[in-house]
Amino acid sequence: TPGPRGSPLVGNTLQYMRDPLGFLAGVAHEHGDVARLRLAGLDCCLLGHPDDIEAVLRRRHQDYKKDRLTQRLVPLVGYGLLTSEGDFWRRQRKLVQPAFSHRQVERYAGVMVGHTERMLTAWEDGRGRDIHAEMSTLALAIVAETLFAADVEGEAKAVSEALDVLTTYFMSPLSIFPLRGYLPLPSTVRFRRAVRRVDEVLYGIIERRRRSGHDSGDLLGRLLAAQDDEGVGMTDRQLRDEAVTLFLAGHETTALALTYALVLLAGHPDAQERLAAEVDEVLGDRPATTGDVPELRYTGWVVREAMRLYPPAWMIGREALADCEFGGHHVAAGTQLLMAQWVVHRDPRWFDEPEDFRPERWDGELERRLSRGAYFPFGDGPRICIGQHFAMLEAVLVLATVVRRYRLSPASDEPLTLIPSVTLRPRGGVRLVAHERRAA
Ligand code: HEM
Repeated sequence: TPGPRGSPLVGNTLQYMRDPLGFLAGVAHEHGDVARLRLAGLDCCLLGHPDDIEAVLRRRHQDYKKDRLTQRLVPLVGYGLLTSEGDFWRRQRKLVQPAFSHRQVERYAGVMVGHTERMLTAWEDGRGRDIHAEMSTLALAIVAETLFAADVEGEAKAVSEALDVLTTYFMSPLSIFPLRGYLPLPSTVRFRRAVRRVDEVLYGIIERRRRSGHDSGDLLGRLLAAQDDEGVGMTDRQLRDEAVTLFLAGHETTALALTYALVLLAGHPDAQERLAAEVDEVLGDRPATTGDVPELRYTGWVVREAMRLYPPAWMIGREALADCEFGGHHVAAGTQLLMAQWVVHRDPRWFDEPEDFRPERWDGELERRLSRGAYFPFGDGPRICIGQHFAMLEAVLVLATVVRRYRLSPASDEPLTLIPSVTLRPRGGVRLVAHERRAA
């Protein structure tokens, strides 16, 4: 199998660390749809063809498990949905899934819009603001309330602060080294302390809820009530792991999808006007959540297009459980299969003028002809993101609520720089100016 040449000692690790996005895009371009790499002491294979990606995630999913990098989240999230495997994962998924059905998720629309409106009141000063910071705070408030209800606001803050330490930990390029967790580095000590803090808070919440038996209508309430076919529920440990997983998986990704959507809208006034017109037409003067959740088609396309260009989960991986073959190339058991949304979503074979922001490309025709594995912001197959309806609903409602009230424009013409760690984050702040639409 072809692949870029690396050093005998560290393989391609340094090339990768210098610029992960550029490096992987270059590898796919030069070496084709199946490219061999050696990263952090692991044999890896970058897959660029939708059919191969679809096979790994869906058609032949039972031949793969989560990759080693994902497994490194275990010290934090334990064995929640993101990291568990096999029968254990299947049972947990069945227990958690009902809480994320369309119908259940739509009950949180009011929380989503309410927090957005509160945020927007502070925007009245018309000053430039860091939209990534705003969206992070917003998505955090939404996930905290939907997961733990409002009565734990103070505690949710403690968890979020601890999680901040933890995300910083995973952001470091060091995080790709397997031994890091075992070395007495200051960052590792801070990490362990933060995990203990998260545990204290969460076990506290869980114990109180079990004692009071009160159902606050939040996701934790759904998880506490969930039972398998034998009538057995989750242990405290499982609840803790799922709660941390949902907390972690649920806010940073959504905040990023929103950040990039707003940045793209600020740079494309036509799209922004079209979105605002749709919202006015569908909603008139009503808030976005009276009655049924509104059908906002164009707004949905904007979200999809933003996640195509800037996928919050920019790469996912699996480990091959047995020898396998892709496009005539033999791949050995134990190889880490890397599937990079960042690369595939910008491949001109599947998307015309892939670098352009064109929400209307999602008008239906593209989806009919697009191969399944060419667009996978939420993954695919049995392990597809459990929160995808939640995330789409939140993204659409937040965008609609922001854009009907404010017109956004870039605060400077500095280009966006990206830091790909677990998620695809913008470097530094992303400053936008918000003008009240009425005044404009
Ligand atoms: C899984 C992306 C929002 C919870 C995943 C996966 C992706 C993803 C790509 C699959 C990982 C893999 O196959 O290796 C995203 C993006 C989001 C988002 C881009 C926002 C735009 C959310 C939200 C929640 C959530 C809001 C929960 C509140 C989860 C969980 C899993 C998961 C629990 C693991 C599912 C399993 O393996 O059974 N997400 N996610 N995500 N996501 Fe999301």
